[in-house]
Amino acid sequence: MTTLAIHNGRVIDPALGRDGIADVVIVDGRIARIGPNEGDMVVEAERIDATGLVVTPGFVDLHTHLREPGFEYKETIATGTLAAARGGYTTVCAMPNTSPPLDSRASIESVLREAEHSALVRVLPIGTITLGRAGKELSPAGELFRSGVVALSDDGDAVADPNLMRHALEYSTQFGLPIAQHCEDPALVRDGVMHEGWVATRLGLRGRPASAEEIMVARDIALAELTGAHLHICHVSTAGSVALIAAARERGIHVTAEVTPHHLTLTHEEVAFHTDFRTVDYITNAKVNPPLREETDLAALGIALRDGIIDCIATDHAPHASMDKEIEFELASPGLTMLETSFALSMKLVHDGTLTLPVLIDRLTSGPVRAWGLDRRTGLEGLGTLAPGALGDVALLDPNAEWTVEPREFASKGHNTPLGGRQLRGRVVATIFGGRVVHETDRVVAL
Ligand code: DOR
Ligand code: ZN
Repeated sequence: MTTLAIHNGRVIDPALGRDGIADVVIVDGRIARIGPNEGDMVVEAERIDATGLVVTPGFVDLHTHLREPGFEYKETIATGTLAAARGGYTTVCAMPNTSPPLDSRASIESVLREAEHSALVRVLPIGTITLGRAGKELSPAGELFRSGVVALSDDGDAVADPNLMRHALEYSTQFGLPIAQHCEDPALVRDGVMHEGWVATRLGLRGRPASAEEIMVARDIALAELTGAHLHICHVSTAGSVALIAAARERGIHVTAEVTPHHLTLTHEEVAFHTDFRTVDYITNAKVNPPLREETDLAALGIALRDGIIDCIATDHAPHASMDKEIEFELASPGLTMLETSFALSMKLVHDGTLTLPVLIDRLTSGPVRAWGLDRRTGLEGLGTLAPGALGDVALLDPNAEWTVEPREFASKGHNTPLGGRQLRGRVVATIFGGRVVHETDRVVAL
């Protein structure tokens, strides 16, 4: 029997409605006890002093690009899940835009097998909506469902054909799988590479209008209403999308949504690098789809997250190699490496008063589990909570610790972030997966 006792932290478990000083005891990989001084009741335990720290369920990410198979030079299941552990994540849902794409039982099984081998935390695969992500024919949803996928998505691209999207939604209802859509209408995006606004004009780059996202959000909400299916909107980025989702929920349509830490906190101005007053250059590490937007969008996203119109934070961790980024803006791959900065970046909303800490923790733990019914779907009882009997997945956090982002020190192979050199406030001090410490900093004190 192995016992780990975490003493005297501020335990925040939104699913249990708990926020107070307590001990958490994990026995043989599962939560055994939780409450004040409960740790003192057990003998022969490994002990961590969490005085002054916040203790929460391990974070759950609905949107992670692990890149394996096919793009191992960008990330692997091993490096991506190590990055996850460093970021406080104990469960990540792996997006299927790999090579080959995850559109068959064989490819899903290969990911699960590799994860069993090399993953440091739990990996739940997502299958494609269409074969080869080509947007022409539906993937075998039943086969993917039986192979263990938790959702279907062609992320990176939208399913452009509305009739095919209708059929995908209809088909998904047989298995109760969420259809996670990357909402950007390619006909409106065309060759746009950043948000359509004054920064794009100033840099001479072609824009992607907010309406490219909103038109597809509106279309897919209408299709979700028609089919009664579960539509999940990936990385919502505009105030207009928020209004559409709020109205759809009001009407009882089954639509859930996520927002990334970067869309919550960074604007399109990140793309412009001011060398002096005359020269302006661009930063490919701030290129992402959908693009970083404007202050008014950020404000609307923060409020929607607070009010639960947006269910959760998802990282859209999109690691790329320097050869994919240190090139012309038009050619650079879109995406930010995010797992290791997600908590600290999201903490900005707590520090500026938009969210309380318990609400932020909800959106990182039970929010994503609720959105997709992940516990039911996987049989992982107690996923995202610290209820006795639940999985021993825990994050230890210091919400006020300041640190400087140093991309070269990331566990992720992707160093593509515009945050390099920036000071953030909020640190993941340790991560425990199934009762085992998978990440710890020197802030951890054994007792
Ligand atoms: O910026 C992005 N990068 N957006 C996506 O939807 C896909 C992702 C990737 O896979 O790199
Ligand atoms: Zn996407």
